[in-house]
Amino acid sequence: MKKLAIITVAIALSGATIHAHSVENPAVQKRMDVMKEIKGAMGVLGSMAKGAIAFDAAAAGAAQNTLIEQSGMVATTFEANETDPKSEALPAIWENWDTFVEMADDLTFAAEGLDTTSLDGVRGGLGNIGASCGACHKKFRM
Ligand code: HEC
Repeated sequence: MKKLAIITVAIALSGATIHAHSVENPAVQKRMDVMKEIKGAMGVLGSMAKGAIAFDAAAAGAAQNTLIEQSGMVATTFEANETDPKSEALPAIWENWDTFVEMADDLTFAAEGLDTTSLDGVRGGLGNIGASCGACHKKFRM
């Protein structure tokens, strides 16, 4: 019983530690969550492309849908110029809003163009998608 209590306290404390380091502004958390979803989908496709996991057309299609959906959320979740100590978003976003939205659209477009019916298709289209992440991060992320 005593052991269990110690473990419970340890978990509670570690939870508190995580909380202290988390994002304070829920609007910033929301846009970060969009990026995390995007990263997760890219992870699935990237793992398939390099053979770390088996190619699966249904899973590739689901990841593609996530990319399309979430890149479509970028404009709405970033529109308000919200700040947070944890944020890596540059002020340039709101100074060049149209360019930022265009770059989000580029990602949507690249994701829509991905052929998820074959491993070769995924391998062939991933470069375009990755380039759109990199282009936007270079300009708009610390
Ligand atoms: C239209 C611009 C844009 C595109 C396209 C874009 N990102 Fe981002 N991304 C950002 C910005 C801006 C941030 C920083 C947000 C913040 O910290 O407030 C970010 C942050 C992130 C983060 C960190 C999230 C966190 O929890 O702090 C990850 C991971 C990420 N992006 C992955 C990707 C991947 C993978 C792609 C391509 C599939 C991509 N992004 C495409 C603009 C973009």
